[in-house]
Amino acid sequence: MIRLDNFTVKIGDKVILKNIKFTFEPDRVYCLMGPNGSGKSTFAYALAGHPAYQLEEGSKIYFCEEDITDLSPDKRAKKGMFLSFQTPLSLNGVNAFQLLRLSLGEEADPLSLKKEIEAVAKKLHVKKELLSRSLNEGASGGERKKLEMLQAAVIKPKFVILDEIDTGVDIDALKSIGRFLEEFKKGRTIVLITHYSRILRYINPDKVLVIIDGQIKREGGQELVAEIEDKGYQFYR
Ligand SMILES: Nc1ncnc2c1ncn2[C@@H]1O[C@H](COP(=O)(O)OP(=O)(O)O)[C@@H](O)[C@H]1O
Ligand SMILES: [Mg+2]
Repeated sequence: MIRLDNFTVKIGDKVILKNIKFTFEPDRVYCLMGPNGSGKSTFAYALAGHPAYQLEEGSKIYFCEEDITDLSPDKRAKKGMFLSFQTPLSLNGVNAFQLLRLSLGEEADPLSLKKEIEAVAKKLHVKKELLSRSLNEGASGGERKKLEMLQAAVIKPKFVILDEIDTGVDIDALKSIGRFLEEFKKGRTIVLITHYSRILRYINPDKVLVIIDGQIKREGGQELVAEIEDKGYQFYR
């Protein structure tokens, strides 16, 4: 699905991610874990094509074996890549419906889109009034994260990176998101970025990756989560 080769990312002169080589397989859930500042968000942004993150010469990103290293973020999104932000921004004057209508373009029939959004909102326990408000304005941390999930659910991307979808979220919201993901994951590749294991009570990753100082130091199954909890990230340095 997504293959990274020599993936080295800089912000200004500072090298953040170092020579990552990894393949995300289709129909799998990955959990990318690591301490604060290890490069998790950088990984997400650089994959999505954020212009502030420069790729070192020789870095390559392939999407279904097509080289997308030089594609703009919107073209990557069109191919089926979706990034949910660690800190979702608010959009003054644009509500969830309008934003989704804009991103899906002409092909979306407004009436069925509205119905679909409302159905997903119900599953995620998103209050209806949030849908007609400017996106994320006055929304709590948990509501923002659920609105990110809602966008993913309607856009139906093939490759989804969720950056700390579990941060700032109370236990009920976490449950809604986790249960929703368990269903949503089918037929997609999901990368859950987190530093806590609590969301993994609701969704089982196929693979756990530990990122430390911009490098994947460890790969394994769910047993790694218990090891991390037990030993802390310091152990992998
Ligand atoms: N805009 C920036 N300018 C300079 N350094 C940055 C910038 N954004 C992130 N960094 C640095 O990159 C490293 C990785 O950050 P980040 O990817 O946000 O980590 P994580 O998401 O794992 O907490 C940190 O050392 C951070 O200080
Ligand atoms: Mg981060």
